[in-house]
Amino acid sequence: MSTSDPRFQFDEAAVAQAKSAVGAVVPDVATLTRMANEFFRAFPNQPVNTGDSSFAGADAPASYTSEIPVMEMRQPQFGAPAPSVPALPSVDKLPSEADIARLGGSGLPAGFPGEATSFTGTPTLSPLSVNAPSTPLLPSQAAIAQSAAPLASTSPFSLPLPDFDLPFPNFEASLPTIPPLAAPGTEGFAQESLSAFSPLYFLEGAGALSHPIVSASQPATQQSPQPAQGFAPSLLPNLALVNRQFDVTSIRKDFPILNEKVHGKPLVWLDNAATTQKPQVVIDRLSFFYEHENSNIHRAAHELAARATDAYEDARNQVAHFLNAPSSKEIVFVRGATEAINLVAQSWGRQHIGKDDEIVISWIEHHANIVPWQMLAAEKGARLRVIPVDDSGQILLDEYEKLLNSRTRLVSFTHVSNALGTITPVEQMVQMAHRYGARVLVDGAQAVSHMRVDVQQLDADFYVFSGHKVFAPTGIGVLYGKLDALDDSPPWQGGGNMIADVTFEKTLYQPPPFRFEAGTGNIADAVGLGAAIAYLDTIGMENITRHEHELLVYATRELLKIPGICIIGTAKEKTGVLSFVLEGYKTEDVGAALNREGIAVRSGHHCAQPTLRRFGQETTVRPSLALYNNYEDIDAMAATLRRLKQLHA
Ligand code: ALA
Repeated sequence: MSTSDPRFQFDEAAVAQAKSAVGAVVPDVATLTRMANEFFRAFPNQPVNTGDSSFAGADAPASYTSEIPVMEMRQPQFGAPAPSVPALPSVDKLPSEADIARLGGSGLPAGFPGEATSFTGTPTLSPLSVNAPSTPLLPSQAAIAQSAAPLASTSPFSLPLPDFDLPFPNFEASLPTIPPLAAPGTEGFAQESLSAFSPLYFLEGAGALSHPIVSASQPATQQSPQPAQGFAPSLLPNLALVNRQFDVTSIRKDFPILNEKVHGKPLVWLDNAATTQKPQVVIDRLSFFYEHENSNIHRAAHELAARATDAYEDARNQVAHFLNAPSSKEIVFVRGATEAINLVAQSWGRQHIGKDDEIVISWIEHHANIVPWQMLAAEKGARLRVIPVDDSGQILLDEYEKLLNSRTRLVSFTHVSNALGTITPVEQMVQMAHRYGARVLVDGAQAVSHMRVDVQQLDADFYVFSGHKVFAPTGIGVLYGKLDALDDSPPWQGGGNMIADVTFEKTLYQPPPFRFEAGTGNIADAVGLGAAIAYLDTIGMENITRHEHELLVYATRELLKIPGICIIGTAKEKTGVLSFVLEGYKTEDVGAALNREGIAVRSGHHCAQPTLRRFGQETTVRPSLALYNNYEDIDAMAATLRRLKQLHA
């Protein structure tokens, strides 16, 4: 049990007071109540209030306090006299010193809110490149012009539509050679281990329950998690993960849903851009939480609150590690990427974006990165400007440069397009925006499960993602914000957990990240996200990127062999998203035909209507890849599409 937490200074005072009370005067109810309130409203590692002016929350910037004029407030008048206060227990019922120490230590982690532990990761891979050999069929010029024309005439955006200079799917040259996967122990194999994480404060000495990662270089027996005190070994979830060579057959066994039969056929899950499936370790971690840890967090004085708080804050540390964020204070838990973007729009945006200011987004955004900015622009009288993309679906950097100026307050764009798979040149775009003093938000929802993300390297001010797209549960997501950007952002929702002190006249807020986490959050699913990240760590993001790239190259080739297929989104830098249309078929019919074979893809507008309209489409069929997909999945899809095409031949 750490004694560095300033709250425990208070403990000692309480003990002294309790001692002096024994045999002398029992503290009155008001004193005991005040002491208890001071203790439980303080966050760990922040001093307990000993007087109003020194309270932790008093550090909050003045602009982030809500102050109302003092109203005339009267004590309620009761008809009858107030009931008398029940007698205090006799002095021999006062807690012992040991009891007080135990109570004081059972609520919160010693290092909370914890810093991310640094780790040595392998460098980010160079951008991916897909070149396929043949020229696919294209939508007709007339179809594109017809689709684009109404948009051009009604578009509120400041840029004219670019010329559609066909042919846009510009495949060329030969396919790249994919280097073989690195073996464990050789250069290139991801060696990082989560074992460097701080131990659980509450289960100190009992092993790292929620991230029992065993590094490849150490025998499993050395670091296998030991049962925590009070936990029978059989109750521990099966989280004994090891770093391993990338083997898709073995990885598939980690995902129980892949054994599912759909219409009598084995499930082929190619709808990963919509959501990913969950490995058994994540499912087990959720069960374990509800079976052994479930409690509200941060403020209770009992053991389960400590376990739950510990697991939740440990997940925050893991997210910081996952993004290479300098501090876990920069990690805000939200419902998903959509909520994270809305948070920034409503908090930072409302504070910093005003009339005639400009917000720059790209043409290939998900609706979640368009609509919140439209709403803010409408409220503030700001302008939304849109970066066009080329015919492959890649950002036109020279056009982007032309949009930047001294009125640009924010640039918000996607790391990976959900509809096309384009990987945008994030670092370059961030640098360009920063030259104009603009903040940058990057939507990483479609990136984090496919490539290593290093927010320090990208230098974005905000980076957002959804847990469910990275093998974690739905309903949990992350806003990363540079500390100065979060400090510069007022709260957006008010309630419990985000406050330092509340009176009827004035509320003081907590610093980030708690200022943005009003109410009871999605505790269990945050813990599930931590487990998903731990799982990915054992496989290595670079191995995942390489595997998916191989599959993307293969799938692109196979699709292009089918007459009448047109792939939408052919940027050289792309992840495993294969949006296409099939001549002679509505996209929903293609989706339904695949579904009958047990193959799940999305067909529709993918919440990215402006993106698809740029390519003359209202909808596409969109298979999308993840680490557990294999060549058989691609073959099954291609075979169904070939049969469909033959029907129409
Ligand atoms: N944003 C998710 C998708 O692209 C739902 O399918």
